[in-house]
Amino acid sequence: MRVVAIASPGGPEALQVREVDDLPAPGEGEVLVAVAAAGVNRADTVQRQGRYPPPPGASPYPGLECSGTILALGANVPLRWAVGDQVCALLTGGGYAEKVVVPAGQLLPVPEGVSLADAAGLPEVACTVWSTVFMTSHLSPGESFLIHGGSSGIGTFAIQIAKHLGVKVFVTAGSEEKLAACKDLGADVCINYKAEDFVARIKEETDGKGVDVILDNIGASYLQRNLNSLAVDGRLFIIGFMGGVTTEVNLQAMLARRLTIQAAGLRNRSLANKAQIVSEVEKNVWPAVVSGKVKPVIYKTFPLSEAAESHKLMETSSHIGKILLIP
Ligand SMILES: NC(=O)c1ccc[n+]([C@@H]2O[C@H](COP(=O)([O-])OP(=O)(O)OC[C@H]3O[C@@H](n4cnc5c(N)ncnc54)[C@H](OP(=O)(O)O)[C@@H]3O)[C@@H](O)[C@H]2O)c1
Repeated sequence: MRVVAIASPGGPEALQVREVDDLPAPGEGEVLVAVAAAGVNRADTVQRQGRYPPPPGASPYPGLECSGTILALGANVPLRWAVGDQVCALLTGGGYAEKVVVPAGQLLPVPEGVSLADAAGLPEVACTVWSTVFMTSHLSPGESFLIHGGSSGIGTFAIQIAKHLGVKVFVTAGSEEKLAACKDLGADVCINYKAEDFVARIKEETDGKGVDVILDNIGASYLQRNLNSLAVDGRLFIIGFMGGVTTEVNLQAMLARRLTIQAAGLRNRSLANKAQIVSEVEKNVWPAVVSGKVKPVIYKTFPLSEAAESHKLMETSSHIGKILLIP
């Protein structure tokens, strides 16, 4: 089968299409999927650079999500799955390939109304956003929510699901074009962080109170400003470190306003934990997708042979929504 391998850590040209031996039959509780499309994630670019190695036992090839058709079932796979089913899946790696083995607990049906290819853009964003700000930070109807990087793959999904659930949505993004896309997806307050101070704007828009929950992909360089933007009992959830990992903060606001800071990744969680998240996503998010209230936002697709081009595009950060690879 054809895969995209990382020849040696480096720039996008490190991604090379190779012919490798077919995968072995799926093991206990696993299925073999013929990949129709694979989502490209920011984390894949970090893996390519050698800074995010796959966990032990995971595929060496990049790719944290895919869609496709079930080709074979291992032993003890739940009866709901059959050969020929169209699915999408959260992966620990290996999506940049013609075939991938998936633990059955990480499969989701392709939502009605979504094409097989577009479904590849849903598992990573839905599982990340649902497991963080909803399952952990308990973002609730009537609350306010700031999403940094509103036009990212993560952001375009987070805006839609939060609006659908009755949350007031604030976003930051780096251009007017990106902010217009966020507005079209339902964002209430759109802040160009290059042109204005997001803390001041949030204070202005909330009568000085701040927002209830923040989803942050920046980390260190935003930590103090995020704490300054939260309301009493506010919750900050950090999912990325595009602005670094080390900083110094004044903790006084945490005590005075009873703030919570949490951070988590998906990839290194246990199989049981991922299965629980996937099941919650199917229960809570999939109905919103089926009803058309939440749609995958696909910016561009590339053939597998142009994986390097897909990473180049992602690293320009000029995209809005998701980038997909088609084997
Ligand atoms: N913890 C987890 O489980 C988990 C899971 C998935 C994703 N993530 C993280 O969530 C973030 C978004 O992921 P994604 O796949 O949706 O990424 P993406 O589509 O590539 O979006 C990243 C966005 O970040 C903004 N940005 C801010 N500072 C930047 C900088 N210094 N360089 C480049 N872009 C910058 C860019 O928009 P502007 O032009 O508006 O700045 C860009 O669109 C990433 O940090 C990713 O690692 C975490």
